[in-house]
Amino acid sequence: MRALIVSPGGPLLTQDVPEPEPRPDEALVEVRHASANFGELRHAAGLPPGTVMGYDAAGVVLRPASDGSGPGAGERVVAFGAGAWAERAAFPTGSLAVVPAGADLAEAAALPLAGLTALRTIRAAGPVLGRRLLVTGASGGVGRYAVQLARRAGAYVIASVGAPGRGEGLRELGADEVVVGLDGLAPVDVVLELTGGPALVRCWELLRPGGSLQSVGWASGEPAVLPPGWNFSLGPARTLSSFGDVSEPGPDLAYLAGLLTSGGLSAEVAWRGSWERIGEASRALLGRRLAGKIVMDL
Ligand SMILES: NC(=O)c1ccc[n+]([C@@H]2O[C@H](COP(=O)([O-])OP(=O)(O)OC[C@H]3O[C@@H](n4cnc5c(N)ncnc54)[C@H](OP(=O)(O)O)[C@@H]3O)[C@@H](O)[C@H]2O)c1
Repeated sequence: MRALIVSPGGPLLTQDVPEPEPRPDEALVEVRHASANFGELRHAAGLPPGTVMGYDAAGVVLRPASDGSGPGAGERVVAFGAGAWAERAAFPTGSLAVVPAGADLAEAAALPLAGLTALRTIRAAGPVLGRRLLVTGASGGVGRYAVQLARRAGAYVIASVGAPGRGEGLRELGADEVVVGLDGLAPVDVVLELTGGPALVRCWELLRPGGSLQSVGWASGEPAVLPPGWNFSLGPARTLSSFGDVSEPGPDLAYLAGLLTSGGLSAEVAWRGSWERIGEASRALLGRRLAGKIVMDL
């Protein structure tokens, strides 16, 4: 079968690879669409040559898990797991969700990593009803889901983008304010910080007592220098936390697929094309010329 692999020197190429051998708790999926995320594209060149790329996929179950768990043959599913950019991939049934008939399978492929990240960071922030919630890097894949889900959770959503035009569509998705950069903002209760570097420091300064800042991404690649005394403020503690929890994604994938089906979530696909064009898509995303998700057709 064909898969998108890391080739020596870095470029991603489709190549013949061995068929996956599912464990008893894994379903074999015929992948129809896959999605690429910032992190895997930025760091692909550092992976061992021959690695089958990707985590996000949607397709049809070819062979259900032999332990009897999960969806049956022929079911349309969205999946999260290593080695997803291949004609066939094995996923633990706890990492799959059925895609309801009303949803587009290609759009479902855009959901896993970005959607789970947005959903779980908002959940980790606790109740956000009526709270001021700031999303940096809001123009991108995680950001566009975070804006929609935070609005759904009742937050007052402030979407920060890097340049005028990058925030197109964010108000329609639920942002109460779309701002360029972080200057002139009133204090906030919650930050989902996706860009790192000086923005992280600025967001910390914007945080109210008792507020939480989740450092989710580091798209800028720049260092963040916290000034002496950054860790002191009067009143309830502010918290700074990391994120990386993609455990047991199945139930959350099912929730996201359900929202997609009901029209409660827009997939925000900014680029769609053949997986043979991954180089073009990658350059556009890393060059900040896309505002949303990449979906590849296999
Ligand atoms: N911790 C986790 O588990 C986890 C999971 C998913 C993603 N992430 C991370 O979260 C971040 C966002 O992911 P994504 O999939 O949403 O990526 P994305 O679609 O590429 O969006 C990232 C946004 O960050 C901004 N950005 C890009 N390069 C930048 C630069 N050099 N300096 C400042 N801003 C820059 C861009 O917005 P503007 O052009 O508007 O500035 C871009 O739209 C990435 O760092 C990713 O690795 C982490």
